[in-house]
Amino acid sequence: LSTTEVDLSKIAEGQAVTTTFRSQPLFVRYLTAKEIAEADAVPMSDLRDPETLEQRTKEGHKNWLITIGVCTHLGCVPLGNKEGEPRGEYGGYFCPCHGSQYDTAARIRKGPAPTNLPVPEYAFTSDTIVKVG
Ligand code: FES
Repeated sequence: LSTTEVDLSKIAEGQAVTTTFRSQPLFVRYLTAKEIAEADAVPMSDLRDPETLEQRTKEGHKNWLITIGVCTHLGCVPLGNKEGEPRGEYGGYFCPCHGSQYDTAARIRKGPAPTNLPVPEYAFTSDTIVKVG
């Protein structure tokens, strides 16, 4: 199976890029301190698919949110990973197909999607390079 390498050095805090991993959109987002604080403030009991931001990121790299950009409802590509796109009520991602709303940890918060945006297998091979897959 193929892997994808992402160079994080060109992404600024607050910015996001979309690349491709095994023919699917891959969302890479450099979370701001505010977005991290927002994710951390959510009680697990408020979550449909309870996971902390820590569980969804790598140790020491909590600011890098890397997910598959495919809505877990019926597979549309959510908006919010491009500048100017709506990020929904929870500041993460918004699926235009049936209105699923994801938060700044890409966890499902509202709408029909059953689970969070999936986190693929990946590893940091240096401070700025991530190998996905
Ligand atoms: Fe995203 Fe239905 S495919 S809400």
